Amino acid sequence: MTDRDDAKWGASRGAPNWAPANVDLKTDVPHSARVYDYILGGKDNFPADRAAGDQTEKMMPGLSRSMRANRNFMARMAHVVATEHGIRQFLDIGTGLPTTPNLHEVVQKAAPESRIVYVDNDPIVLVHARALLTSTPEGRTAYLDADFTDPESILKSEQLASTLDLSQPVALSLIALVQFIPDEALIQHVIDTLVASLAPGSILALSTATGDYAPEAVERGVAAYRGNGIPMTARDKATVEGFFRGLEILDPGVVLVHRWHPDADAAGYSDNEVFMYGAIARKL
Ligand SMILES: C[S@@+](CC[C@H](N)C(=O)[O-])C[C@H]1O[C@@H](n2cnc3c(N)ncnc32)[C@H](O)[C@@H]1O
Repeated sequence: MTDRDDAKWGASRGAPNWAPANVDLKTDVPHSARVYDYILGGKDNFPADRAAGDQTEKMMPGLSRSMRANRNFMARMAHVVATEHGIRQFLDIGTGLPTTPNLHEVVQKAAPESRIVYVDNDPIVLVHARALLTSTPEGRTAYLDADFTDPESILKSEQLASTLDLSQPVALSLIALVQFIPDEALIQHVIDTLVASLAPGSILALSTATGDYAPEAVERGVAAYRGNGIPMTARDKATVEGFFRGLEILDPGVVLVHRWHPDADAAGYSDNEVFMYGAIARKL
């Protein structure tokens, strides 16, 4: 991406030259997707994101390992949902910046015909969305620029209608998303609205931040996020279980993400360095 016109793309605004001029990246303000990208070792972030990431990691040592454990949970969850539950359709909200392996890569490896709709409300994720739009010839991926807190805009979107068949089971994945939404009643309303539109046999997969195992570190980390204008909320196990109301939570229940169907990588983590719960549940 070197031969682009700087006036049309972002370089003339102090933004990188791959950023379209009509997208306001708000590069001077930390953003959750870019802080996450920085902490995971990515390159799609700005000084404000790096400063926020460094500050948070300092106050919450182990944050980068916890985030990696969460990303690995996403991949194991997607594999299990595709192979053990036979799900071929995925609605992933709060997708984040492309990080290998992306969800569609995991599920299309298991079942090439899988269809995926990615949703995020971050302009920088939108800029990178084309990297998410690769697909096997048999399957399909789509990207939707929408907000989790407006579920109707997701359900009524052309991207969803042309990619997913809601009469068949769908896996709704909310991975490391709801900790950025302080209002629990709102989260519940959105989950209930989305799940109500899905066929029986559909799956809800969710991971989110908790301070249950390292309360002091997580409290400091939450304060650092909030100090940088990112509304982070850590929640206890009962609250996270509540997000699955009306659904059958599947084995092993709501557990720290490295304890969910662990593989060799997950076995390398200890409880006090993983600040995320994860689980999946089935709609009956
Ligand atoms: C920490 S990242 C998680 C990325 C990915 N799901 C993962 O676990 O690796 C959180 C993502 O949620 C997105 N996000 C936050 N609030 C959102 C909202 N209200 N609607 C849609 N996306 C949101 C952010 O832009 C960011 O990309």
